[in-house]
Amino acid sequence: KTVAVIMMGGPTKGTRFRPLSFNLAKPLFPLAGQPMVHHPILACKKIPDLAQVYLIGFYEEKDFSLYISALSNELKVPVRYLREDKPHGSAGGLYNFQDLLMEDDPTDIIVLNCDVCCSFPLTDMLAAHRKHEGIGTLLVKKVSKEIASEFGELVADPKTGELLHYAEKPETFVSDFINCGVYIFTPEIFTAIKAVTYTKHETSSLRRMSSFEALHTATNSRAMQADFVRLDQDILTPLAGKKKLYTFETNDFWEQIKTPGMSLRCSSLYLAQYRLTMPELLATGDGKRSPTIIGDVFIHRSAKVHPTAKLGPNVSISANARIGPGARLIGCIILDDVEIKENAVVMHSIVGWKSSLGRWARVQGGGDYNAKLGITILGEDVAVEDEVVVVNCIVLPHKTLNISVQDEIIL
Ligand code: GDD
Repeated sequence: KTVAVIMMGGPTKGTRFRPLSFNLAKPLFPLAGQPMVHHPILACKKIPDLAQVYLIGFYEEKDFSLYISALSNELKVPVRYLREDKPHGSAGGLYNFQDLLMEDDPTDIIVLNCDVCCSFPLTDMLAAHRKHEGIGTLLVKKVSKEIASEFGELVADPKTGELLHYAEKPETFVSDFINCGVYIFTPEIFTAIKAVTYTKHETSSLRRMSSFEALHTATNSRAMQADFVRLDQDILTPLAGKKKLYTFETNDFWEQIKTPGMSLRCSSLYLAQYRLTMPELLATGDGKRSPTIIGDVFIHRSAKVHPTAKLGPNVSISANARIGPGARLIGCIILDDVEIKENAVVMHSIVGWKSSLGRWARVQGGGDYNAKLGITILGEDVAVEDEVVVVNCIVLPHKTLNISVQDEIIL
């Protein structure tokens, strides 16, 4: 049997996602019309012997209760949220719930970071994992040298795929192969985490005994705490080169979703993937009363779009949104209950829940999804009045804009 675990993190982890994480846990933010975490979960669902899906995090349980009950019905596989009382790190979180995760006596445990966007080639990865004698398989990808240091960099044996060397976000270049945050382990991973926890305990009690060190180092810093164990630097680094870990390379798309800008990019990647896997989710623009559709567009069935509006490419429209006559939308995520009035334009932007755009209003970003102000974000319940132009701005919730603004964070 296989169980799947999605590492969700918690509210303190989603800070770069503000202001969108104010009223929604980051893993639930919609990409291509479905919660971020839904995409990896659907990929797990394709594993034939999947027994359970666990979501582990330190968000409050109520943040996920609605989503989880809907999900259990949809998947026909039990889904449980396991709450940590505090952050234990990506490996510590797993270790904490070892007994529950082992309830179904799984042979393989899939572990996924909730904030990565990829094709999740889990079936092929599982087949590769079951062939070698190791305790873990990591999904890896070659990226450009310039960005590799934002991730875990690694060296693998080109013939066997064995992980030979691992360095988490190194300061000097190690390799342009990176860790994608998608893993398959055998239950022996728990023994490895236990060993690290034990060593950390020993070190921290030694430290406590040394008053000099206590004065001069932050012994209480999170990384030093014995029960805070990270999968990458605490587990992968020491296990590399010991014939325990193997890599599986993907050439498909892969991105990390740390900022709202990246959520726009990832939304477009998932929409493009729907073309191949679930084309029925994409708007066709075929009907008589349908708007004009260009490229990949998702429209929630409860949203109302005027037939003279023009949408796409890369547009996702959530529940109960209303898009008026002549509106033009390009590269954007429109969240629940938004109203866009006639002839308004939205480009490279995220429009928050219950916000409204007046007639001929224009909300746009430059379109550089990696830049800090490369897109415009309207928080919840922002009103942009008629004919007002908002360019490259982040607008916090509950604001009314009655004059045009550019390159500003509006608090
Ligand atoms: N439950 C739980 N508890 N989850 C956690 C915790 C924790 O204490 N800490 C982090 N996570 C989750 C995050 O939500 C995320 O999904 C994943 O674990 C990894 O988060 P980080 O440890 O903050 O690492 P990162 O995202 O900066 O980088 C990791 O992922 C990259 C791929 O996206 C590293 O493993 C990199 O090497 C890797 O390239």
